[in-house]
Amino acid sequence: MKIELENNKVFFNKGSTKQEIHPFWLRERVDGDEFLDKGTQQRLFDPSAMNSEIIIKKAQINNGFLEINFNDGVNSKLNLNKLKLEFSNKDTIIKSILKKKWNSSLKNIKNFEYKENFFESREMHDLLVSFYEYGFVVIKNVPTENNFIVNFANSVGSVRRTNFGEHFNVKSKSNPNDLAYTTLHLSPHTDNPYRNPVPCIQILHCIENKVKGGFSTLVDGYTVTENLKKEDPKAYKILSEIKVRFKFTDRKVVLEDWSELIHLDNNKEFKQVRFSPRLDYVPMLEKKKLDLYYKARKKLSDLYNSEKNRIEFKLIPKDLMMMDNHRVLHGRTKFNPEEGNRFLQGCYIDFDSTEGKLRHLKRKFNI
Ligand SMILES: [Fe+2]
Repeated sequence: MKIELENNKVFFNKGSTKQEIHPFWLRERVDGDEFLDKGTQQRLFDPSAMNSEIIIKKAQINNGFLEINFNDGVNSKLNLNKLKLEFSNKDTIIKSILKKKWNSSLKNIKNFEYKENFFESREMHDLLVSFYEYGFVVIKNVPTENNFIVNFANSVGSVRRTNFGEHFNVKSKSNPNDLAYTTLHLSPHTDNPYRNPVPCIQILHCIENKVKGGFSTLVDGYTVTENLKKEDPKAYKILSEIKVRFKFTDRKVVLEDWSELIHLDNNKEFKQVRFSPRLDYVPMLEKKKLDLYYKARKKLSDLYNSEKNRIEFKLIPKDLMMMDNHRVLHGRTKFNPEEGNRFLQGCYIDFDSTEGKLRHLKRKFNI
């Protein structure tokens, strides 16, 4: 990768190809004191309001800097290494972390340990990388006093408040408005599929757990749907095409959103799963199509509920688990409340929190 000059034109030479860099693209990146605020790294001028007829009058390369005089009287010195970083045209931090597929054979996943200054530590960086690889992470020994979960969430990024509040308490209660507040087995699901956008990350913090059952269960929606794509492409296709309605109602609000059970991005790659079979309603479609859809959904449900795809473990007090609610399904085995209390606290954060923190820590530790 090289930047070259020819007749006051700037070229980007990749070896196999050589292309001219638009003069306006370079003019937008002028970063002298009067053009860029050093503290915020925000522009002090508005390129969208500028005349785009920008021409380079003179250009030269000196000691790693591209020195340019533009025809509007602006002279600049641009750092070549900084410019080259922009040529990959993609997110080099989050997308470069490859998702690892896992099922019930997943063993020895690293648990992290909370300590002082945790949120600014190298450990936090490693934790976030692991989170993006596996879609979940467990941190031991996280303080439980004064709803510390909210503090934890706000130290990674910001709590995503919902109509359930800043955080919620998961313990069995009489007259529950959600099965989470019973002692029943909870099959694998993703949370809040009826929100727009769906909360990205769920945090669960164990405060008390004196029962023999009540194990936490996790299933990797990414692994399951990638396997389905290979084994039953027809089922995969219909589940990634038909949008279904998810709805939540109570006295104060009606939440509704429509989505495929397997949501793909523009490149037809995995983006998000939603699964909450007590809340999904497929539209009235042709009988043949619905035949196919119902068979496909049953297949997906069997895979999500299969022991082969599930890991099971017990959260003990002070354990805090972060789960990618767009990727990993969670559930719980039943328990007997007469054996003692089981009390978890939960809250949500969005991907801007973890992404922002990870980028910051990479910058801080020069990783
Ligand atoms: Fe849940």
